[in-house]
Amino acid sequence: ATIVVLNGPNLNLLGQREPQFYGADTLADVERRCVAAAGARGFDIEFAQSNHEGALIDIIHHYREAAGFVVNLGAYTHTSIALRDALATVTGPIVEVHISNVHARENFRHLSYVAPIALGVIAGLGVRGYEFAIEAIADRFAPN
Ligand code: DQA
Repeated sequence: ATIVVLNGPNLNLLGQREPQFYGADTLADVERRCVAAAGARGFDIEFAQSNHEGALIDIIHHYREAAGFVVNLGAYTHTSIALRDALATVTGPIVEVHISNVHARENFRHLSYVAPIALGVIAGLGVRGYEFAIEAIADRFAPN
């Protein structure tokens, strides 16, 4: 079974971008972490990033029946009803991840269009949040 890890705009610059918020790991490092965390629980990872809202929607449609989704939609979290509507069509659990603690930052980062349809939200725990999210999805299939 496959868990999709979907990253939105500017996350391609992870490791170079505002390291005080997002740390030193690159997106390739995050992908390695995800593959390892999922592999340990018997899942495969489909890892994707796009800076384009429509491209992210197309990816969600393509993987609608995946076991679960881990999503960090970046700033689209706070703006995109279209991405929320796309995620509302997937069959498995969704975990929303933010590397930084969005609630300790500007007010415009406090609203998430995705959170109401997510199983849960992880924010502020750095890139480890992706691994915790994968654990949470795996637990839904094999509770421990
Ligand atoms: C982010 C938080 C968002 O507010 C921001 O726009 C990002 C990254 C995070 O991972 O902390 O691009 O989603």
